[in-house]
Amino acid sequence: MLATITFMAREIIQGGQEVPPLTRRELEDYHEDLISFCDRHLSLLGDLRGLDVLYAGGVSPLWLEGLVERGGSVTALELDLGRVLAAREALLRDGIEGVRLVAGDVREPPLEPESFDLAYSSGLFHELDGGERGAEETLSALVRLVRPGGRIATDDFVDRVPAVQVEEERLRADLHRELRGETLYGVGPPERLIRLHERFLGDVRWRMLPPHPLRHLDRLVLSEGEPEEILRLPPRNAARFRRRWEELCSRIRREGYTRPATLYVEGRVP
Ligand SMILES: C[S@@+](CC[C@H](N)C(=O)[O-])C[C@H]1O[C@@H](n2cnc3c(N)ncnc32)[C@H](O)[C@@H]1O
Repeated sequence: MLATITFMAREIIQGGQEVPPLTRRELEDYHEDLISFCDRHLSLLGDLRGLDVLYAGGVSPLWLEGLVERGGSVTALELDLGRVLAAREALLRDGIEGVRLVAGDVREPPLEPESFDLAYSSGLFHELDGGERGAEETLSALVRLVRPGGRIATDDFVDRVPAVQVEEERLRADLHRELRGETLYGVGPPERLIRLHERFLGDVRWRMLPPHPLRHLDRLVLSEGEPEEILRLPPRNAARFRRRWEELCSRIRREGYTRPATLYVEGRVP
C-alpha cells in the first residue's frame, strides 16, 4: 500500500493523458475507504481472542493488524517471498507485533496439520491457479490445517454486479494463461464459491456484500500503467492486450473504477 502511495507522488502520462498525482487529502480519503473495506470483512469473523488464526494468501499489514487487534494469534502464509519480506519491514516500521510470516504455497503449507482454530482468506481464491481443481486443493489443504470443529472463512470478489474491476481481473487472468498456460480460478458467480465450501465444510453460511467504492482508486489504477507482463508477450499478442488495456482505461475515465460485490462464506471443519 505504502509503495503504491509513494509511487503516486510522481506525475504519470498514461495513454497520452496526464494523470495528476493524488493530493495528501485524497490519499487520506483512499486510505480511509480501504480501512472501512477491511473492517467490514474482519468484523464478520467476530471475536478472535485466544484463537490461533491462519491468514492464507496475502500479507497486507492492514488485514494483519486488524486480525491482531481482534485478539488472534496470527500466522500469515503467502506464496510470494518478496511480499513476505516487504510485509516484515512494514510490520516492524509500524510497530505491529504478534504476526508470524511464512512464505509458501497454501496447497503445500509448511505448517503443522490441525494447528489453527480459524483459517481465513480475503481475495485469495480468484488469484489461485489451477482453476476449479486449484480451488478444491486449496480448501482441502486449509481443512487439514484447522482443528476439528474449527472454522474456515473466506471472502472474495464475485461477478454478481458488472464492474470495471471484474473486467480488469479477466484481462489479468487471460494474460496469466497466455504467459504460463495456467487457468486462474478467477472472479465468477457466488454459487460456485458456496458449492465449493459446502463440499468440504459443515454448517456453511454466507453473505453477499455490496461493492465497496474506494475513492480515487481510478487515478491510482490509471497511474500504475499497463500490466508489466504485457512486455513479455510476442509483439502481436502484446498489441492485442495493449488494446484491451487501453479500452479498459477509457472505461475507467468514463465511469470510474467500479468495484465488484464480495461474497463472504464460512463453515466448520468436520
Ligand atoms: C489479492 S491478494 C490478497 C489481498 C489480501 N487482502 C492481502 O492481505 O494481501 C492475493 C494474494 O494471494 C497470494 N497467493 C496466490 N496464490 C497463492 C498460493 N497458492 N499460496 C499462497 N498465497 C497465494 C498472492 O501472492 C497474493 O498476495
